[in-house]
Amino acid sequence: MSRILIFTGKGGVGKSSVAAAHAYKSAKEGKKTLLVSTDMAHNLGDLFEKKLGKEAEEVMPGLTLYEIDPEYVMENDFADIMTYLTKLLASVNDMSIRDLGMIPGMEELFSLLKIAEIHKSGEYERIIVDCAPTGETLSLLKFPELLSWYMEKLFPIGKIGVRILAPVSKLVFKVEMPNKKAMSDIEKMYLKLAELQELLKDRETTSIRIVTTPEKMVVEETKRNYMYMNLYDFNVDGLYINRILPADIGNEFFDRWIDIQKGYIGELKACFAALPVCEIPWYDEEVRGEAAIRRIAEKVLGDRDVFGKRIITERERFTKTETGYSLELFIPCADKADIDLYQAANDIVIKLGNFKRNIPLPNILRTYVVSGAAFEEGKLRISFEKGGEEDE
Ligand SMILES: Nc1ncnc2c1ncn2[C@@H]1O[C@H](COP(=O)(O)OP(=O)(O)OP(=O)(O)O)[C@@H](O)[C@H]1O
Ligand SMILES: [Mg+2]
Repeated sequence: MSRILIFTGKGGVGKSSVAAAHAYKSAKEGKKTLLVSTDMAHNLGDLFEKKLGKEAEEVMPGLTLYEIDPEYVMENDFADIMTYLTKLLASVNDMSIRDLGMIPGMEELFSLLKIAEIHKSGEYERIIVDCAPTGETLSLLKFPELLSWYMEKLFPIGKIGVRILAPVSKLVFKVEMPNKKAMSDIEKMYLKLAELQELLKDRETTSIRIVTTPEKMVVEETKRNYMYMNLYDFNVDGLYINRILPADIGNEFFDRWIDIQKGYIGELKACFAALPVCEIPWYDEEVRGEAAIRRIAEKVLGDRDVFGKRIITERERFTKTETGYSLELFIPCADKADIDLYQAANDIVIKLGNFKRNIPLPNILRTYVVSGAAFEEGKLRISFEKGGEEDE
């Protein structure tokens, strides 16, 4: 089964270098590999010292590079969806929704749709995604969910809505997928978004890998990134600590820095104990050109199984309990005091730091109310009980 590895992390920590090393290793293993960049400021061409165009290009046997231009993809591959979305938005009188066109991530949605399409085509065994810095990656990855949430509030998606949005609930609630032929355009678009979310959250296929460096600001952001990725139910299954100074420089100035780095490496390992951690040395030159990429691929990744699936956090899920239902989510590294939770209309809203996620309740739970919540060992458990007066 083909795999998608998505590399994220703060600006400049080495995402592109590490992603490239994975792609290189994968191709050398004889797997047909695509290294794709969703960062508008592309640099795969520079990294491999090749001039790239708007289409994917094979640069060595088994390795294809692709710098996605979302606008180009939108016009060439998804013109119908764009026309359709534009019409849809124009039909809405609500000003707040008109702004949807400007929601960050709208354009990049087409990068994701393109990656999903490539994945579906089965052309590549491994798709390695090099992303823009943290904040943009988060808004990119959560955009499909956000857009479907809007659609559900605004359009008559009716019964299919919430059901496909909570894919894991399917097992519990025995939901049948709607018949595609009988669906309206809105429902089809909605289904596309649901499929995209399903692909990105599917632990069998997609892995999120965080790249970091051992310094205060980066470590702090790395922890938040990990927390938020989990809040949105993505499977972060690997951490890469880059730019580690060699221990034997023998210089007082650097000895001090080596000590500082050691402190942060320890902190990262403690916080990310659940994840395989890969340490990458600080080289005496930039990572540029095939030889430099090969060095990381061979010396650091070496024989490690970096492409196998590792399920660190399970998918969030609703389960039936004696008194009602419960929803379990994994938010490792989070502090109980930072989590805020409430029920709003047909959603459960979870606030964590600057982020707020609305999880629509499955139809059957719409007559239920939150009866309790507990946060233990990185797991948030929300209980629901029947609300009383209303019948299903
Ligand atoms: N281990 C390393 N040793 C030496 N130089 C490195 C190392 N890792 C990365 N670099 C250099 O650091 C710079 C940033 O690396 P890279 O482009 O991979 O980071 P990035 O996270 O993708 O950056 P951006 O956020 O801008 O996309 C590059 O010049 C790269 O060559
Ligand atoms: Mg980069």
